[in-house]
Amino acid sequence: MRGLLILLLPTLAFAGCQMAKSQVHTAGATIKLDSSSNKKPDFETEIKPIFAARCQPCHFQGGKVYDKMPFDKAETITRLGTKLFTRIKDEKERRLIREFLDQPTAP
Ligand code: HEC
Repeated sequence: MRGLLILLLPTLAFAGCQMAKSQVHTAGATIKLDSSSNKKPDFETEIKPIFAARCQPCHFQGGKVYDKMPFDKAETITRLGTKLFTRIKDEKERRLIREFLDQPTAP
């Protein structure tokens, strides 16, 4: 019985490792699916317009903080994260931005 356990343990550990690997893999596949099925908010068509409508001209091309915080780049939004909510109070817009931030691939 003890012999069996000793044999089984490394096998289990190995299986766990394989599982972790395949999860990472699956996550990658899910991301691709998401962006093509468009279930998560898309930066260009859903997120950027929120900021374009409210945060002009300062955070856009030619604005005074465009160099430091360009809101036409997804990366700025993911970097600032929920700090943006100090200026974005609309719940619907916040929800979209939150969903966008939750995307594991958000660059
Ligand atoms: C009138 C110009 C102007 C507009 C419009 C504007 N901002 Fe800014 N924003 C600034 C400036 C200037 C700074 C830099 C402040 C600093 O460096 O302390 C800034 C900084 C920020 C920061 C950095 C963190 C902070 O709170 O200091 C965030 C987040 C931010 N803005 C979000 C927004 C959002 C979201 C909008 C639109 C809803 C917006 N801003 C509209 C001028 C503007």
